[in-house]
Amino acid sequence: MDKMAVRGGHQLNGVTAASGAKNSALPLLFATLLADGEHVFHNVPDLVDVKSACALLESLGCETCYKDHTLRVFVKPARVAEASYDIVRKMRASILCLGPLLARYMEAKVSLPGGCAIGTRPIDLHLEGMKAMGAEISVDAGYVLAKTVKLQGAKILFEAPTVGGTENVMMAATLADGETLIENAAKEPEIVDLANYLNKMGAKVEGAGTSIIRIRGVNKLKAAEHTVIPDRIEAGTLLIAGAITGGEVTVTRSAPADLEALIVKMRESGFKITTSGDSVTVHRTRGWRGVDITTAPHPAFATDLQAQFMALMTQAEGTSVITETVFENRFMHVQELVRLNADITPKTRVAVVRGTPGKLMGAPVMATDLRASACLVLAGLVAEGETVVNRIYHLDRGYENMEAKLMALGAQVERVK
Ligand code: EPZ
Repeated sequence: MDKMAVRGGHQLNGVTAASGAKNSALPLLFATLLADGEHVFHNVPDLVDVKSACALLESLGCETCYKDHTLRVFVKPARVAEASYDIVRKMRASILCLGPLLARYMEAKVSLPGGCAIGTRPIDLHLEGMKAMGAEISVDAGYVLAKTVKLQGAKILFEAPTVGGTENVMMAATLADGETLIENAAKEPEIVDLANYLNKMGAKVEGAGTSIIRIRGVNKLKAAEHTVIPDRIEAGTLLIAGAITGGEVTVTRSAPADLEALIVKMRESGFKITTSGDSVTVHRTRGWRGVDITTAPHPAFATDLQAQFMALMTQAEGTSVITETVFENRFMHVQELVRLNADITPKTRVAVVRGTPGKLMGAPVMATDLRASACLVLAGLVAEGETVVNRIYHLDRGYENMEAKLMALGAQVERVK
């Protein structure tokens, strides 16, 4: 069970590059099921979750080849349109193969994804979207069974924006008969990236990035080539790593526009942030103020940056009120930060952080989910002494070579068996 040992007190300075976006690469990989042939993706991050998605594609008869951040997916007609539990349980995003399989093969058998530490993570909105397009859905022995004669275009209003639900319905609608309208669609940059790729494949998707997406069904799609957008969550995490140590860090190969909500809040807290082209820089600072944040669907403050920002606020002067509106249980990192001597009072969806600059004390802590593990590493960068983050495998799911990037900036971090 890998651990990461972090020695506090080293200022981070320098330039680092963001990798491709995990949450864009995953839906892109499942979109390949919509068309046979060789799909080519560049800037694909080297992550455990990408490997899991490739394993699922291979179980569906595809071949994958990953080299130097380029991933080739050779899709052949699937022998069985089934995503098994032992793969889906490792990565809940596997549910994104439901829409493509149903649209292409008129049937799909996909294991229900488990919940995870941050919440129950239901897929009811995904299934309602498929039903609206004419699919018969049943759940049996932990599997979703979906069948249709042919998917029909439909008007779908999501009661709440769902990233995965929007992606699943958008992919399914590309091969449906007629036009589909998704209202209250999620607007994340990863949705836009997926729509751009679907259109390269010959689909007719309009409005991605807004709350109304229109998809006109076509008969057939073809394999294409695409470059994955930068990972805005990794870029934000690296920026906060520089900020929390008072250093100057530039993140290149990023998309500053996708980080607007974080940049606004860091500036409000007192950081000087500059952007130029694909780079964003946090400049040295001697202190910062507590600010309140509320997470919500894009373009609001990303829930995936909430834990990392909380670590930063433990070192602020004053109090921050952190409200999490997207997931019902995304404060698992709070008690671990308290073990490092942070002063935080968690309520149900609100945590009150009383800043205690320079008071974090290193200790063994436990990572519970992907972004919580990043938060604990960031806190370890400024805690006195050594912080050992257990269950660091969570980090490997979503961050490519995090320790190498942090060490190159001057951090003292080491992976220990
Ligand atoms: C995506 O998850 C991301 N994962 C998550 O990133 C991210 O936190 C989340 O979007 C929100 O931005 C990927 O893209 C692979 P949702 P997703 O459907 O699609 C509820 C990370 O750290 N909901 O937008 O699962 C749900 O419970 C991960 O990289 C339903 O109720 O998120 C949640 O409260 C963590 N029914 C809210 O909506 C549904 O059918 C938002 O979920 C679907 C969702």
